[in-house]
Amino acid sequence: MKRKRAEKTTGLAPGDALELRVEKGVYRGLGLARHQGQVVFIPRGLPGDRVRARVESVRAGYVEGATEALLEGGPDRRPSPCPYVPRCGGCAYQELTYAGQLGMKESILRESLARAGAPWPGPIEVAPSPEEGWRIRASLHVGVGEGRLSLGLRREGTHEVVDLPRCLQLSGAMNLAARGLKGALEGRPDLWRKVSGIDLAESPAGGDLVAAVAANLEPPALPALAFLAEGAPGLSGLGVVSGGRPKRFLALRGSPYIRADVLGVSLRAHVRSFFQGNRYLVEALARAVVELVPPGGPVLDLFAGVGLFALPLAARGDAVVAFEIGSSAAEDALENARAAGLGKVRVIRGEVGEGLRSWPGQAGERIVLDPPRTGAGGEVVAAIVARRPEAVVYVSCDPPTLGRDLSAFARAGYRPDRLQAFDLFPDTFHLETVVRLVRRAPSSSRAGHVPPLLVLPAAFPGRGSRGSHHPFGHPHPDALAPSRQAGALVDQTERDGSMTLSTDGRRWQVRTPGRPWRGRLR
Ligand SMILES: C[S@@+](CC[C@H](N)C(=O)[O-])C[C@H]1O[C@@H](n2cnc3c(N)ncnc32)[C@H](O)[C@@H]1O
Repeated sequence: MKRKRAEKTTGLAPGDALELRVEKGVYRGLGLARHQGQVVFIPRGLPGDRVRARVESVRAGYVEGATEALLEGGPDRRPSPCPYVPRCGGCAYQELTYAGQLGMKESILRESLARAGAPWPGPIEVAPSPEEGWRIRASLHVGVGEGRLSLGLRREGTHEVVDLPRCLQLSGAMNLAARGLKGALEGRPDLWRKVSGIDLAESPAGGDLVAAVAANLEPPALPALAFLAEGAPGLSGLGVVSGGRPKRFLALRGSPYIRADVLGVSLRAHVRSFFQGNRYLVEALARAVVELVPPGGPVLDLFAGVGLFALPLAARGDAVVAFEIGSSAAEDALENARAAGLGKVRVIRGEVGEGLRSWPGQAGERIVLDPPRTGAGGEVVAAIVARRPEAVVYVSCDPPTLGRDLSAFARAGYRPDRLQAFDLFPDTFHLETVVRLVRRAPSSSRAGHVPPLLVLPAAFPGRGSRGSHHPFGHPHPDALAPSRQAGALVDQTERDGSMTLSTDGRRWQVRTPGRPWRGRLR
């Protein structure tokens, strides 16, 4: 019955064997292929790959397949430099050349923004990073199975922990510490199921290396975990995290802080505080943010962490108010400002939305925001634009939520004038983007080449102007992206699916792989 329903909407059912060509990479490390027009997502599928795949799941028209055999590799495919691919779920792109990764990340970012109704028409420069040893923050999981202990990352889509004797993302010192901690824990099987993970934090220049062990033990038993440090003499600090919410941190050995010198400011970051994960690009990212904030006005730094942007901005003379919810990060930011003699920085510990409501707006405000992966969201965007800031600098680690938020900013008259990307996470599908938004009168949007936003459902082939059915089944956003032109008139369609639209007196050429479209888009 289920199989029948899946077949009815997509023409496919779990277990079907297919031969597919991956058209392109899409977000979250998936390759997009089509079977008779139906989009099929292939984990780790790379552009140009020809694969024999089996349909794994069909849900709400969303079809996911698994590669059974790679029949022909795409042009940018390479042998993985890491022996744990594809078992380890840590890296989606180890089998893609680095130049291929940068190109694919750029096009995925561009598509995410366009699909959300916030297209960026200009060039996108992605700052590259060395591929090995870049990571200065790592969360490793502990797994127990068949009488063995594992320390590493999870197998894709499962809870199984893949033991990683060496991870290419980590420095030699971090790998050594991870192995040492695992070795020490191996001698105590009574603790295996009490320890669920180990976080590591290293200073960008090396030197400081701190471990935080997550343990489910009663408070009196926690100090006994200090023996783990004997397995990892390179650690400058060791602590244990336990309890429910909020979790408690207990320092067991040395100092729980790492130090980072960024743009002439010395920052401390507790192993429990957020800090950017790439040693090679952290300063370049901070420099880009500082340079994009126009000088000469008060600055709000939302989601401020330990003050990575707030302190260099204050050091150049700006009056900065930093909002941060995490207690250890807020304490670090405060102490960093004090130690640097930057009395103009105020640190408010609390929730950003609440802070925006209670902190009085000032004329000429500049706002920096760097939210978690979930993005800022509608309420925070609304609270920001209500303050009528001079400029907004948005730092994002998630292209889809960035697109969603940029679209909300655009509706309120804030449009991007600068965009830069940073490959903070080589070999993974993640990408960091910095966008500056400035307030524009509605008429000037044309001069900025920004097309109108999607306001109504798209038209579909053979359905006139307002169809809600999609011929390829699930309306995967990749298939819908080209329709996101409000009030557009289709001038001409071609058999290959490309079409010319007029909107607001301007003409746009868009391509829709698959079938030609017709009708008026509204
Ligand atoms: C992506 S990090 C950015 C930190 C900092 N800008 C940096 O680059 O180091 C996001 C930060 O926002 C904080 N955060 C998350 N949700 C928050 C909220 N609702 N209000 C205030 N801070 C929040 C987190 O604790 C974290 O420190």
